[in-house]
Amino acid sequence: LLNVETILNAERVYTNMTLAFNSGPQQTYDDLSATYDGYTSTHRHEQWLSTIEQVAQAHGVGGRRLLDVACGTGNSFLPLLERGYEVSGCDLSPKMAARARSKSRGKANVFVADMRALGEIGEFDLVTCLDDSLNYLSDRSDLVATFEGVAQNLAPAGLLVFDVNTLRAYRTTFSADACWESDGCFFAWRGETSPDFRAGGIAVASTEGFVPDAGLWRRTTTRHEQRHFPDQMVRDALEAAGLHCLAAYGHRPDGTLAATFQELRDHKRIYVAALPT
Ligand SMILES: C[S@@+](CC[C@H](N)C(=O)[O-])C[C@H]1O[C@@H](n2cnc3c(N)ncnc32)[C@H](O)[C@@H]1O
Repeated sequence: LLNVETILNAERVYTNMTLAFNSGPQQTYDDLSATYDGYTSTHRHEQWLSTIEQVAQAHGVGGRRLLDVACGTGNSFLPLLERGYEVSGCDLSPKMAARARSKSRGKANVFVADMRALGEIGEFDLVTCLDDSLNYLSDRSDLVATFEGVAQNLAPAGLLVFDVNTLRAYRTTFSADACWESDGCFFAWRGETSPDFRAGGIAVASTEGFVPDAGLWRRTTTRHEQRHFPDQMVRDALEAAGLHCLAAYGHRPDGTLAATFQELRDHKRIYVAALPT
């Protein structure tokens, strides 16, 4: 039985290392892109996107033009593409975006963009930003800039649906170690955050991916710094960007949705926002 320390200390199995310390989310995700899908292979994207779609429908989403901001390798838009949505997706990391483009087989418009400077892209019925992508932003002004860009690209009755991590996520997942195997690759997660993590702080975790390479193992290390955004800061940022918060749900650890969130029970808060009517 292998544990994280055994793997991390087994220097003789490494061929080379890609280290991405303090390099920011673009470098982090460029480095992680090749193994990201193996890394998230236990995530139930079909179920998760069904939930997101149900949330949007409950708030009267009026069409199928989707913009998925910080789309990664496409996992957060592919289930909706399959259901007939007209999809655009963007990501800061050119390598993540390239994988999303290739997986969509030319059916989605995927491009590289920093969510803090979206500019004019089009008019969308639904804009999503999922799986703690917003937590990679540094502060409230980044949140406001992102929401302003979204507001600029929403159809008059369009909806923004996004999630952010809760205190629980940072005090548990981000403060624990885990390792698992997927498709012949080995992954390790090292939570470097205190179990006493405080609201508004920066949480840190690192990942190790070991991929078979010519009879040895290629190791990639990435570092993840995430900002916890308290509920009031999210709501203030939405208002400052001209958006109105319609609801904030809880994403329970078992993946189900709660009508109202509890910061120390749920893993994520899921928000729905719209332009004022
Ligand atoms: C945890 S991944 C989630 C990807 C995808 N939404 C999913 O659910 O699989 C976070 C993504 O946020 C992207 N990201 C981080 N900062 C960004 C920024 N400022 N603008 C656009 N994308 C960003 C990263 O490149 C990465 O692909």
